[in-house]
Amino acid sequence: MPVRKIPPKDIPPPPPPRRQPTEISLEEIENLNQTLKAPRKKRGGKWFAGLLLLGGLGGLGYWQWDWLGPRVNSTVTGAKDAIAATEIFSANSEPRSTAPSKPSTPNPDPDVTASPSPDGQSNPPTVTEAELEAKPDTLLNHRRYEVADPSTLVPLSSNANIKVQAEVQEVVAAMIEKARIEGVQLGVISGYRTLEDQDYLYFDLKAERGQSVQTRAEVSAPPGYSEHHTGYAVDFIDKTRPSTNLSQSFDTTDAYAWIVKNAPYFNFELSFPKDNDANVSYEPWHWRYVGNQESLELFYK
Ligand code: DAL
Ligand code: ZN
Repeated sequence: MPVRKIPPKDIPPPPPPRRQPTEISLEEIENLNQTLKAPRKKRGGKWFAGLLLLGGLGGLGYWQWDWLGPRVNSTVTGAKDAIAATEIFSANSEPRSTAPSKPSTPNPDPDVTASPSPDGQSNPPTVTEAELEAKPDTLLNHRRYEVADPSTLVPLSSNANIKVQAEVQEVVAAMIEKARIEGVQLGVISGYRTLEDQDYLYFDLKAERGQSVQTRAEVSAPPGYSEHHTGYAVDFIDKTRPSTNLSQSFDTTDAYAWIVKNAPYFNFELSFPKDNDANVSYEPWHWRYVGNQESLELFYK
């Protein structure tokens, strides 16, 4: 069985001490938002060697095309299928590349289990329909969501570190402005989150706090199962009362009272009211947008 290289996982800075029994601290959210903005690690450094190799292969291909041509064509077809499947799967899979994968067959060697291509050669291992369907629709009462492509999201006008769906950006800007005119300092502290963000919030904080999977799931969704992945969910704050950020005491603020009164006009609804079906703790700060067909189908499918 080939040994897979495990890419080093970005270790986030240790979170500050927990201040209250709530989702996560303000500093942690801010760290996450910084992470979203930070450029990803560069993979380059060996481009010159790569160019040389490509040139060499090109020369070889030209020289041996009669023999190589049919094989390249079949590989390209297989690779396209593999990429399509990987893109679908990666949006739904846990990002922990360090977790040992459970073999699905007695012989998990991909070269042995991969289905052969029409000309009898093995394709690279791909994610099968069955594996995709095997992903549970709910986990610890949280529903599974595809992770939005960040390149389709836009930064909030009020905080460029936070990304959301374009329609949410416009609506939230309108809400913040209307609230301001009416004397309420409404803000947003969290929007879109990646699988990595949610992995940290769920697994790392769970371990740090010594929580069971169920207890952690009462305040944080497992990766792949958070409404924040969709870009349609935000966490509101009252800028005049930062001590209530991500706390149930947020429901004592003017901002909360304003949202409750105005949310239906802006197509927002509270995701986790008291005694919700998901058995998630009451989260008066966490609201989701249900103002278009896509968001409605996501949250009510
Ligand atoms: N705090 C909510 C449940 C989430 O993590 O998505
Ligand atoms: Zn939230």
